Amino acid sequence: MIKLALNDQINEEVINSYKDDVVRINKMINEKSGPGNDYLGWADWPINYDKEEVERIKRDAQYVRDHFNILVVCGIGGSYLGARAALEALNGLKSDDKLEVIFMGQTFSPNYVAQVLEYLKGKKFAINVISKSGTTTETSISFRLLKELLEKQIGKEASKKAIYATTDKARGALKTLCNQEGYATYVLPDDIGGRYSVLTAVGLFPLAAAGIDIDAMLEGAKEAREAYNSTDLNKNICYRYAVMRDYMLRHGKPVEMYVTYEPQMSQISEWLKQLFGESEGKEKKGLFPASATFSTDLHSLGQFIQDGTPVLFETIINVLEPRYDVKIPHDDEDLDGLNYLEGKDLAFVNQKAFEGTLKAHVEDGHVPCNVIYLDKLDAKSLGHLFYFFMRACAMSAYLLDINPFNQPGVEIYKKNMFHLLGKKGY
Ligand code: PA5
Repeated sequence: MIKLALNDQINEEVINSYKDDVVRINKMINEKSGPGNDYLGWADWPINYDKEEVERIKRDAQYVRDHFNILVVCGIGGSYLGARAALEALNGLKSDDKLEVIFMGQTFSPNYVAQVLEYLKGKKFAINVISKSGTTTETSISFRLLKELLEKQIGKEASKKAIYATTDKARGALKTLCNQEGYATYVLPDDIGGRYSVLTAVGLFPLAAAGIDIDAMLEGAKEAREAYNSTDLNKNICYRYAVMRDYMLRHGKPVEMYVTYEPQMSQISEWLKQLFGESEGKEKKGLFPASATFSTDLHSLGQFIQDGTPVLFETIINVLEPRYDVKIPHDDEDLDGLNYLEGKDLAFVNQKAFEGTLKAHVEDGHVPCNVIYLDKLDAKSLGHLFYFFMRACAMSAYLLDINPFNQPGVEIYKKNMFHLLGKKGY
């Protein structure tokens, strides 16, 4: 389903030198025996997921589609990025789906929050609040505001059929609130952390509500789980990719730049940045994950990538068949000089931009470039891709001797902020 072309700075001999580590770590992942082992639930999730919950998600999602015009998804970090990434990648930036999906809870920005609330006034909207801990401040504040507006518009009773929560099965303030108010809830399993949760209800409910085929997405992930469990480094592209990342970090390339040629995939890069940044960036180790959307960013970052400090390598996700295409028309006067492209599709032009840029970066810029090729982007291939990266991330972090599933550094800003806000106990 996906193909990987690794950069030419790593060869088969180097890749195979990782064999023992890969065998050891793959066993750790499968047997759930490494650091953070109580957060490895995502590894077998494509076969272990709660089938009944998925059916309930589909029914509730259909109810939302039938009764509301807007779904506001309220969450941050792993409780937000996957759904947004999948939604934009599959439905596009100008979705014509009948249900509009809006994101809130990912910022304290008064401008953003005020504008979203204003936009929702008088409209038929439902809320999907997502928080594993149930206490994340950005999400909690937004949810309080959304709930207040909803109850003001349709009343407290009717609001109960318009609020859907995804949270821990037993703990946390959000779970307590849901129990008290009787909201529908879905579970974020104990053994799956936020950034590995896109294939749970965290991603599945908003995606199903947006009309996306979540069964196909889980099917793609299941295929990936089977494909990437092998320790044969000649075949397993997921572990080849992880090994390459480790080699790059140890050979003077501390920055990995994720590149797409589709603006609607820029949130996939955001998801990747969180997955790898929060999983690996510990103990003064890890690659810095960056991103760019070409050709747009060739007119900004392109100069640096080609010619600047040689710190980075690229991982390009190239989708070969776009869902839509546009032909370049003939113009009698040809004042813009574009008739040489007359009748050509934009997909053709985009691919030539990819080929020309790859050559420029590799041959002239000496930037190591990996390419992940996807024939097309649909729910199934995206499920596959999500799993590919999660498994590669676990392997990468373990190669650095790091626990991929905690995020101790994130707590420090929160403590300072709570102290400054006057929260009790800080
Ligand atoms: O990946 C993670 O664990 C984090 O990004 C969390 O998802 C994020 O902090 C939100 O946490 P919660 O779901 O508890 O609100």
